[in-house]
Amino acid sequence: MTTTTLAPLLRAEGVTVRFGGLLALGDVGLAVPPGTVVGLIGPNGAGKTTLFNVLSGVVRPQQGRVVWKGRPLRGHRPHHLAGLGIARTLQGLNLFPGLSVLDNVIVGADRLAGGGMPAMLTGLGGYQRDERRLRDKAMAVLEDFGVADAAHAMPQTLPYGVQKRAALARAVVAEPELLMLDEPASGLSGADITELGDRIRAFGRRMGVLLVEHHMDLVMGICDHIVVLNFGEVIASGSPAVIRADPAVAQAYLGASVREGSDD
Ligand SMILES: Nc1ncnc2c1ncn2[C@@H]1O[C@H](COP(=O)(O)OP(=O)(O)O)[C@@H](O)[C@H]1O
Ligand SMILES: [Mg+2]
Repeated sequence: MTTTTLAPLLRAEGVTVRFGGLLALGDVGLAVPPGTVVGLIGPNGAGKTTLFNVLSGVVRPQQGRVVWKGRPLRGHRPHHLAGLGIARTLQGLNLFPGLSVLDNVIVGADRLAGGGMPAMLTGLGGYQRDERRLRDKAMAVLEDFGVADAAHAMPQTLPYGVQKRAALARAVVAEPELLMLDEPASGLSGADITELGDRIRAFGRRMGVLLVEHHMDLVMGICDHIVVLNFGEVIASGSPAVIRADPAVAQAYLGASVREGSDD
């Protein structure tokens, strides 16, 4: 799918973030159109998570802005994301340890809960019919992710790969318009990464996806468009083929170990 003809869901414009004397992001722009998987890559410390946090309302940029469907977001916070139609998964595991896998996914299914502790689980009245509906929906998504067997288990008792799938199930159960993933492949290997890639590709047909990832192969295989950060600046932007052929990208990833002229 082409990335240039559709109005973006989410856009970062001229985003600059400094941590003390460190320029974490310098005048960074990025756009995620609907039905598109946009990859954000770059070496460790490049600023990927910082940009993810600016988009999520965790970090306020000193300059620049975040625009959602043409409307600038002013002072947005992470708990506003669900209401806007944005879901995210963070680096590592972020399931609530005191809730079963199923209840974790139900939390994700209730946009109004916004990722906080849902009132419906505390037994407040008026939620019972909704709870049945959400429970069915959450169960269906767990089945789709091949982890329905783990529905009633506590997350911390499960293998890492199962927890990662459950976290992803929680993010997509409310059918967000935009899904933001920060290093979803971290801690996974081989077949699990391949399966994750297929899943993200499938999400990308239903919603916009912003994929922050370290695994080059995964990103190259499933993204429509890729933005490369290095030392807080966009050094390349384009299709996987364009990025693969860009010498500045190879240089950034391999640094001093690149032997001049060895690849071309
Ligand atoms: N809260 C913070 N305070 C100070 N420096 C930070 C903070 N968060 C990130 N940094 C620094 O900003 C740079 C970018 O970090 P980060 O966005 O985590 O990179 P990436 O996700 O690409 O590995 C790094 O040099 C990191 O040490
Ligand atoms: Mg990071």
